[in-house]
Amino acid sequence: MAIKYSQKVINEFTNPENVGEVDGANATATEGSPACGDMITYSMKINRESRVIEDIKFRSYGCASNIATASMATKIAKGRTVDEIIALTPKTVTEELDGLPAVKIHCSVLAINGLKAAVRKWDAEQSGQSVEGDFTLDNETIIRELRDVIHPETGISIVKMNMVHLVEVDSGSVFVELMMGETDDMYFENIEEETREHLENLPGVKTATVKITEGKAYKFK
Ligand code: FES
Repeated sequence: MAIKYSQKVINEFTNPENVGEVDGANATATEGSPACGDMITYSMKINRESRVIEDIKFRSYGCASNIATASMATKIAKGRTVDEIIALTPKTVTEELDGLPAVKIHCSVLAINGLKAAVRKWDAEQSGQSVEGDFTLDNETIIRELRDVIHPETGISIVKMNMVHLVEVDSGSVFVELMMGETDDMYFENIEEETREHLENLPGVKTATVKITEGKAYKFK
């Protein structure tokens, strides 16, 4: 089945802006999407006093909407402060692009998370801290991470879809139970794998187990 993109996505993909590397960049990050293996690299020049992103470029190692969302993300980021970047959500990018197909929503998550990773790293370096700061592995941080796991059919986070039924953390071992609707068979593997990869990326996680339980209809939170 062909994927239908908005005209803005097509324009952004065929004529992406800010491609390459910023000369003398003082902030960089490479992020990968557990959903598809695509990657994105940002380089930026951030003003130390004003904390404003003065210049930003990207390199994409991914799909058409990876390129389109990254190009749009650089345009959104230029001229904003580090704190404004931290407050962005993937919705900012999708709205600027007049939407994305559900199966491609994770591309906007990757584009925004890449921006945030670069500014967080920069911020931590300025204050001499580690990027992880005072990260605590608990139910709350796990739920926050799982907000980035997108159901491929609806384009909505599995947390927002109320699919996360149980979260247990015990000395680096994480157990997550997901509730799936009966019609979701074809997405089980994809969602289970993506959830596990997100969990494994969290600092302090030694083992991550994801159990899928079938048969419950979604209730949106
Ligand atoms: Fe994964 Fe686009 S970033 S398909």
